[in-house]
Order: sequence, then C-alpha cells, then structure tokens
Amino acid sequence: MTSSLFDVQAIRAQFPILSREVNGKPLAYFDSAASAHKPQSVIDTQSRYLAETHSNIHRGVHALAQEATEAYEASREKVRAHIGAESTREILFVGGTTDGINLVAQTWGRTNLGSGDCIVLTRMEHHSNIVPWQMLALEMGFDIHVVELNEDGTLDAEMFDAHLARKPKLVAFTHVSNALGTVNDAKYWTERSHAAGATVLVDGAQSVPHLQVDVKDLDVDFYMFSGHKTYGPTGIGVLYGKEALLDAMPPYRGGGEMIGSVSFENGTTYNELPYKFEAGTPHISGGITLGSAIDWMNAVGVAAITAHEHELTQHAHAQLGDIEGLRFYGTAPCKAGVVSFLVDGIHPYDLGTLLDQLGIAVRTGHHCTEPLMDKLGIPGTVRASFGAYNTLDEIDRLAEGVARASSMLR
Ligand SMILES: Cc1ncc(COP(=O)(O)O)c(C=O)c1O
Repeated sequence: MTSSLFDVQAIRAQFPILSREVNGKPLAYFDSAASAHKPQSVIDTQSRYLAETHSNIHRGVHALAQEATEAYEASREKVRAHIGAESTREILFVGGTTDGINLVAQTWGRTNLGSGDCIVLTRMEHHSNIVPWQMLALEMGFDIHVVELNEDGTLDAEMFDAHLARKPKLVAFTHVSNALGTVNDAKYWTERSHAAGATVLVDGAQSVPHLQVDVKDLDVDFYMFSGHKTYGPTGIGVLYGKEALLDAMPPYRGGGEMIGSVSFENGTTYNELPYKFEAGTPHISGGITLGSAIDWMNAVGVAAITAHEHELTQHAHAQLGDIEGLRFYGTAPCKAGVVSFLVDGIHPYDLGTLLDQLGIAVRTGHHCTEPLMDKLGIPGTVRASFGAYNTLDEIDRLAEGVARASSMLR
C-alpha cells in the first residue's frame, strides 16, 4: 500500500495541466514515460528565472551573470547529490538521454572501440541506445551482440553471461524498459560486466523519474537521464561519468566554454571537467529548472513515488487482466510503472484513438523499441505509463475505457 503520507490529491493539485479537459472529459494522463508533466514549483522556477535572473553564465562579472551562474551550478550540485555521484565534475549537462549516449559513443566509443572488438546491448533497448552504437560500428568495425529476453520480459541471464564471455569492451543496457516496464538488476549486471573487463553504460531515462538511483552503489561507468521525464523541462538532461573516464575522453563538441585557451599558433587546450564537454551557451533555464524538479521529487520523497507507482501498476494489471482477449507484454517480477498490452484482433492505434475520445492519454506504437516489437511479432502495444500524480480511480477509468473500446472495435 502507498504510504498514508502520500497524498495523491495534494500532488495533483500542484500540476495545473491535470485540471484541463480533453474531448470534454477530465484528462487521465498515462504517458509519463514519454514525458512527465510539471508541478507549479517547476513552472515558477522557469518563469522566475526568465523574468528576473536571465543572463549568460560563467563569464560575466555583473550581478545577473553571477546569479545565473550560481543557480546553474547549484542545480548541478542537486543532481550530483540526487544520484549519489562523487563530484560535480562527473555531472555533465546534456540535451537529454539520447544526447548523453551519443556523447559517450562519439568520445569514449570512438577512442576505445575498433575492429575485432565487440559490445553488448539488450533486446529491450530504446533506439537511443542502439542507433548511436550501430552508426559507430559501421565506421569502426566492431560487433554488437544482443541479449535476448525471457517470456516475462526479463533479460536472459544465461545469454548475458555467454556474451560477457566474449570479453566485450562495452555493455550498455537500460535500467528500466520503457516498453515493458522491466527493472533490470543494474548493480548485478554492472558487477558481472566489470568482471568481464567491460565498461558499463546504463540508460536511466526510465529509472531516475521513478526510483532512487545511486550511481556509486551501482558502480556504473556512465549513466544518463532526461529532464522532461523527471518532472522538469525538455532539452536538458544529465550524463554522469566516472571522473577518470571523462578525463581520458576527448571533447565532444568544440566551441566556447569547453576551452582552456585557443591559439592559431599553439592550438587549443581544453577546460576542466565538466565544462570540457559543455561547448557553447548551455540550456541555462533548463539546468536551473531541472534542479527545481529534483527538489520537488525529494520533497515528495522518491521512495513514496516508487511505492505509489508500484500500487498503480499492480492495480492496472489486476483491472486490465480481466478484459477478454487482453494480453500483457512485460510481466517481470520487478516492474516500474509501465503497462503494455494488446487486445486480440484490435490495432493498438484504434484502441488509443478511442481512449483519447474518453480523455485518456496512452501511447500506442513501437515506443522506439522496434527490435523488441519485431522479436515479439507485433506492430506495437498500447502503453499506459504512470507518474506520481496518477490515481487508482484513473486506472479504473482506463480499464473501463479499454473494455468499452474493445467491445466497440470487435
Ligand atoms: C529507455 C529510454 N531511453 C532513452 C530515451 C530517450 O530519451 P530522450 O528522447 O529524452 O533523449 C527514452 C525515451 O523515451 C527512453 O524511454
């Protein structure tokens, strides 16, 4: 049961968008895995920054430049503390999860991977953790081995170990699957991958919004997440990397901010971490506002959010499970707030469209996991994903809506 301290109505009241109607019905938003909504405190931080503080950062002596710099760097410290990193030198502000993975591929990957090498990915990866590696593999000539899944959407541990026996240079996997909800044992697989000599990248896009993450405890080498899925703004995200690895990596993009000094005669030297990887004017309002989103999550309590979403997920499985012809995709024992399903003979898009008429927002399609959908032999699923603000009543509405739409479409 969710803690009695977790007052979901009080939480909902902080999200202005949740009071709007869609198609004449109260909005029931089940698409937080794609992007989460923002509480008033986060919206206020963004508008206050733009109205009162905005200036470019890091290189001004005037008051606004200093205030903006302090707020931006304070936010970096909030991120550090939130994910348990050792130092803010290990916290890079990037555009999002996708940007973070591309940064690792183009810097660490380009330096460390070559012909004759191999890396390991899993069948449940988001395209963001597949395509950057495929693009690089085409150029650099390394092989990609894929860990397949068990029936319930967990990783095939035997196959994982068999791939580790090939001594991969990199193992890259998602902490939580956005399509199935599976929570992978990131600590266990990181330890085994390290024992096999691999560097480990974990995609945290679907974990940081829902679980307490401690990168030091997990011992991952690289970890990334997106602000907009974490009750914060779009266009900002975080790449955590162990300092020694980041230090050894060449810079990603060149330009202002990432330099030590620039000379036509003597070439360019690079700034210290984390600035070496932050070329150009950053997303200042995004960084500051992400700090506010982290404050909001901590004020609610990450453990309470996890427990609440667990209850929602259990309830959704129970309510939807009674619907004739409905099949779940992803029934792992350890699941985050993602429920993927299909109803026999009904295209997910048709179901999603009818649910929208009832004010219920779900996502339909392949969820940027085409290799997973291909393997399952389906075009996609209907996905309901939860945030701190969803209620059990909304899930009842979802189940009623799916039952009604299914009988209409059959
Ligand atoms: C598991 C996972 N990885 C990566 C991404 C990409 O995130 P972004 O589009 O914010 O870069 C997503 C987005 O849905 C995701 O769910």
